[in-house]
Amino acid sequence: MSSIQIADVSKNYGPVKVLKGIDLQIADGELVSFLGPSGCGKSTLLYCLAGLQEITAGQILFDGRDATHLSPRDRNIALVFQDYALYPHMLVRDNLAFPLRRQRVDKESIKRQVNWAAEVLGIEALLDRYPSELSGGQRQRVAVGRSIVRNPAALLMDEPLSNLDATLRVRMRTEIRRLQRDLKITVLFVTHDQEEAMAMSDRIAIMNAGVLQQFDTPMEVYRKPANRFVAGFIGSPQMNFLPGRSFQSTPDDCIVGVRPHDLVPANGTSAPQGHDLEGDLVLIESVGPIHFLDVLVGDIMLRATCSDPTGLNPGQRISLATAPQKLHHFDAQTGLRI
Ligand SMILES: Nc1ncnc2c1ncn2[C@@H]1O[C@H](COP(=O)(O)OP(=O)(O)O)[C@@H](O)[C@H]1O
Ligand SMILES: [Mg+2]
Repeated sequence: MSSIQIADVSKNYGPVKVLKGIDLQIADGELVSFLGPSGCGKSTLLYCLAGLQEITAGQILFDGRDATHLSPRDRNIALVFQDYALYPHMLVRDNLAFPLRRQRVDKESIKRQVNWAAEVLGIEALLDRYPSELSGGQRQRVAVGRSIVRNPAALLMDEPLSNLDATLRVRMRTEIRRLQRDLKITVLFVTHDQEEAMAMSDRIAIMNAGVLQQFDTPMEVYRKPANRFVAGFIGSPQMNFLPGRSFQSTPDDCIVGVRPHDLVPANGTSAPQGHDLEGDLVLIESVGPIHFLDVLVGDIMLRATCSDPTGLNPGQRISLATAPQKLHHFDAQTGLRI
């Protein structure tokens, strides 16, 4: 088990600056997601922590000890990749034992550790099968088993679920979370899927173009996005953005954000408020308990929600209401939260 400190870490590939002064303090036993669009540097950061890549500047500490220049084998960290290749010619049992055999661990300990990992992951019945005889989810479990069998101080996972179908992905994320809690292991989990990050993490580190945007709990990131990028990246459907002049009460030089869930058809009986909007209802999209409304306000398409669309028809004018405390304000120039 280990705390991890990432202190002002930068990484260049030749002239390309991939990580720019990343600062993160990850507590022992915490599950932290690195979340951001493709190419923002998530994998690179993970490989730097694992020691597979040298950093250009800064420091990496495990439990307060400088590990910046330690070789991967001396870091006691396990890495699970997106395409977790199991050895096809080896039984599950031998796949699990492989990292221990390579470390010349004695036979008895290997047996004990393999059985322990299999039990933790509920794959005891699969030990004498070949990978080709497993489902996708079972293979994923074996891959995780192979990474924890050495009892690593931390587990780094690079988009480990992205090759699974949607149902299995949701189930596996719960399993990884349970495993992480049971083992009290520090897990760093890379994903580009904000919902996955929201559902699993103690805290989320949101990155864009090699720069850390915000590091906080899922709810804090959702409720108080630090800037416009985070506001647009977290939450589904995406937050609406409007110029400040759309509302009486907001200055022109700011951008106002409002989540679709906080924007609803106005109750026709009450007088219009300063934060009401009017537009053309373009589309109603029903997804079960909630209905999404696409409404063209001026030249901006907004997304609103309602629980009952009875009486609403595309083509009609519609008023939308939101509560002032649900509005997010961002500086039009810097994008920072006001
Ligand atoms: N070995 C490399 N040499 C040069 N550029 C690289 C190398 N690896 C990654 N990059 C670049 O670094 C950036 C970040 O990549 P990566 O960490 O893989 O992003 P992510 O995992 O967030 O999708 C990308 O622009 C990518 O093209
Ligand atoms: Mg990646």
